[in-house]
Amino acid sequence: MKKIAIVGTGYVGLVTGVALSDIGHDVTCVDIDETKVAKMNQGLSPIYEPGLAELMTKNIERGNLHFTTDHSIAFHDADAIYIAVGTPERADGSANLDFVQQVARDIAAHVTDKGAVVVTKSTVPVGTNKLVKHWITEALDRDLQIDVVSNPEFLREGSAVHDTYNGDRIVIGSESEEAANLIKEINKPFGVPVFRTDIESAEMIKYASNAFLAAKISFINEIGTICGKLGANIEDVAQGMGMDKRIGDKFLNAGIGYGGSCFPKDTKALVQIAGGVNHTFDLLESVINVNNKQQQIPVDIAQMVLRGGLQGKKVAMLGLAFKPNTDDMRESASIVLAQKLTDLGANISAFDPIAMDNAKRLLPETVHYAASTKEALHDADVAIIVTEWDEFKDLPLTVFEQEMKQPIVIDGRNCYPLSYVETANIDYYSIGRPSVI
Ligand code: UGA
Repeated sequence: MKKIAIVGTGYVGLVTGVALSDIGHDVTCVDIDETKVAKMNQGLSPIYEPGLAELMTKNIERGNLHFTTDHSIAFHDADAIYIAVGTPERADGSANLDFVQQVARDIAAHVTDKGAVVVTKSTVPVGTNKLVKHWITEALDRDLQIDVVSNPEFLREGSAVHDTYNGDRIVIGSESEEAANLIKEINKPFGVPVFRTDIESAEMIKYASNAFLAAKISFINEIGTICGKLGANIEDVAQGMGMDKRIGDKFLNAGIGYGGSCFPKDTKALVQIAGGVNHTFDLLESVINVNNKQQQIPVDIAQMVLRGGLQGKKVAMLGLAFKPNTDDMRESASIVLAQKLTDLGANISAFDPIAMDNAKRLLPETVHYAASTKEALHDADVAIIVTEWDEFKDLPLTVFEQEMKQPIVIDGRNCYPLSYVETANIDYYSIGRPSVI
């Protein structure tokens, strides 16, 4: 059992802390937000993540998991200090490292004589870990052994607990063999393969992985647009492509674009990182541009089918979160879409199983939030599926017929097989597949 401190209880920090406590370590998570810390100490999770609250309660009760606002308590004799604070996007797309720098100062102020292995979980530009070491040693008033390890996370929101135990790899980038071995030992109970490399490569693996996944999505979305015009079916195309193991069948779902706290931010940051070494990352800039075009697709379809335009029309938006099983609205396609529809004079009635509270802060004020799918659909001129929640996938298509003024469905996430849609009496448009009218 190791004594571990985690700084930052956002998504990455909290999931990491809870999981490390669950495999038997003594974990103290530190956050500056007192109200949040008090709630977490009662086992209340500030984020919605399947399975997380249960693991929190279990490990608090058995004394493995603690939350505090006091860095000196968290850092006292810690074997490893994890940095898991945010690296928000600056106006130019680069990552803002102010929170990371503050943690470095806090470590210098409170680290005990044992020294520390400082592990960076936050997604940080190449070179940051060495800067962290510099920031800490510069601020230290005595000579201590400080080692830094880059240990990026690859968890997906909505399945983070599952991913922690079933990851494809744990990347450890370090100059120190001893520090790398410590992190390897800490993670051993997860049983996930370890890939060991230098610090800069580990930092780059994180950005390159997210950029590559984003590229897969934008690629399939472009093919989808062409399929839509040629009468081909993007699902069959993706399936046929994915059977080639060199391509792989994951992340080939066409839709109205990727969102979330990672892909949009990390792709822009990598363009900036490339720019910093005088390289124009043309491919990645195109990936971003393609993604920004996707939300226009349902708007164009709606305008085409409602020939008189969207002025005064009721549009039901089903799903607001950037993907299912999360209440996260960050960079969700729904934000741009709702704005475009509102600008065209549509009256939006929206429903999401859990993201509506967060959505209220981000969508236009005129959006009406319905209490159920049926209420959102009631008397609507057109329905747009934005997030592929099971609740919508399992919806009998007769509900569209019964509730809507005219059953026009624009499915931004290809939720239903076309053969199923053909059995219903609805006009159905989706992404990169033939329409069913
Ligand atoms: C992503 C990565 O998948 C994780 O490996 C990584 O750790 C994480 O970012 C991060 O950097 O923290 P996440 O943002 O939680 O995870 O969500 P994903 O499941 O990857 O989905 C991202 C977006 O892509 C969603 O909006 C989703 O709807 C969209 N997507 C995904 C598609 O449009 N098509 C696909 O085939 C797959």
